[in-house]
Amino acid sequence: MQPNVTVVILAAGLGTRMKSRKAKVLHRAGGKTLLQHVVDSALALTPAERIFVVVGHQAETVRASVTTPGVGFIEQTEQKGTGHAVLTGRDALSGLDGYLMILYGDSPLLRVETLARLIGQETSGSAAGVLMSAMMDDPTGYGRVIRDQRGNVREVVEQKAGTPEQLAVREANMGIYCFRADLFWKHVGEIKPDNPAREYYLTDMPAILARAGHTVEAMQIADPNEALGINDRAQLAEVDAIFRERKRRQLMRDGVTLVKPETITVDAAVEIGPDTIIEAFAQILGRTKIGADCTVGACSIVQDSVLEDGVQVGAFTMVATSHVGSGAQVGPYARLRMENHVEAGAHIGNFVELKKTRMGKGAKANHLAYLGDSTIGAKSNIGAGAITCNYDGKYKHPTRIGEGAFIGTNSTLVAPLEIGDGAYIAAGSVITDDVPADALALGRARQAVKEEWAKKRRELGKK
Ligand code: UD1
Ligand code: CA
Repeated sequence: MQPNVTVVILAAGLGTRMKSRKAKVLHRAGGKTLLQHVVDSALALTPAERIFVVVGHQAETVRASVTTPGVGFIEQTEQKGTGHAVLTGRDALSGLDGYLMILYGDSPLLRVETLARLIGQETSGSAAGVLMSAMMDDPTGYGRVIRDQRGNVREVVEQKAGTPEQLAVREANMGIYCFRADLFWKHVGEIKPDNPAREYYLTDMPAILARAGHTVEAMQIADPNEALGINDRAQLAEVDAIFRERKRRQLMRDGVTLVKPETITVDAAVEIGPDTIIEAFAQILGRTKIGADCTVGACSIVQDSVLEDGVQVGAFTMVATSHVGSGAQVGPYARLRMENHVEAGAHIGNFVELKKTRMGKGAKANHLAYLGDSTIGAKSNIGAGAITCNYDGKYKHPTRIGEGAFIGTNSTLVAPLEIGDGAYIAAGSVITDDVPADALALGRARQAVKEEWAKKRRELGKK
């Protein structure tokens, strides 16, 4: 934790080049909104109560998208520039002591280590502020960092205002700053909209502080891409790819095997235990937690779910908002649609769909079944083609099956229904009434056999 750092995240802009009805910071990369990435990085450096987001376009939606409790919001109703955005928060922010760090909601790649280095440089020296910069082969569009003889920042010159000599400077302003809060608030009122865009530029601050006799330093980062601000969908895809790669590297460092890693998608918040194997083209999404020694088969999708240790998910399987107990097997080609609980050692085989269903310990549904709104007791066996008819066209009804029951192939279980422990359902039955424990239930027409029927028919055909 750094001492007394207030973080302001600018996120009021619409982001015209996204060509979207959605505010730019709400677009997602690496499984999170751009803004949430920045909030999460800030949170590693300061408490939520010291983080403020400047919102403007779609203020309410942007505010609601931030999942961290305690974060404050400042509404900038008219976007009159980066300086104006911070100024809007003056009442809320100027009472806070220490340091003021300014980040952009559309620059999600910045690492916590890099931000900590910026704060470290500011808090350890006597400078009034430190800005983040990078040497760029082509800094077109960025503000240029103009230094004095001693190497301190004299001013930042925007692309539109620079002389050819200034624009030849390759050191670009990344737009990320850490200021001493008292000096910042003392001088911020001196920013004037004296530029063609009539905007209040935050980039005027270094010159203002320098003129007042303070020093402003620049901290160079090696890779300007780390501060990349997303402007369009192509950059969004690039940043997404960078997040995916970072996550894969971290997982591999932590002992997870990724087969053909470049094809695998894992969201930022996902946790995976050691010796788990993730096969090609798998997607592990949302708040998923996977234990140790699991396998997630090729092309499977696991979303917002928990897999305990030793779970085997076969290829082409979907698991959503479900909990799978240790050693259970799911798939290949299975679908755990929503809110299922598959207990330890249970088997869910190919072309089995589960919805709001609890599969007891060691229970099996190995092929071609639909189990919805149902509870299946431990060690029960659900035959191929068994279906719970949980929906009557208007309402959903539950099915309860006890322990050690045997549900024959192609049974149709019309809910609401209860089947007791150890009961047998004969194959092909339509079951509409409860079945007591240890009973056999048959619900099908008796078989008729007509001797010689086929032969006679053939002979009739010859005439
Ligand atoms: C800014 C810097 C430039 C730097 C570049 C790095 C200024 C004047 N220029 O330029 O020196 O090289 O970043 O990317 O600061 N925003 C608000 N309210 C506003 C205006 C902007 O919240 O009134 C937000 C935007 O949503 C955006 C961020 O501030 O997230 C940056 O604004 P933008 O207009 O994109 O600044 P740049 O032109 O990129
Ligand atoms: Ca920008």
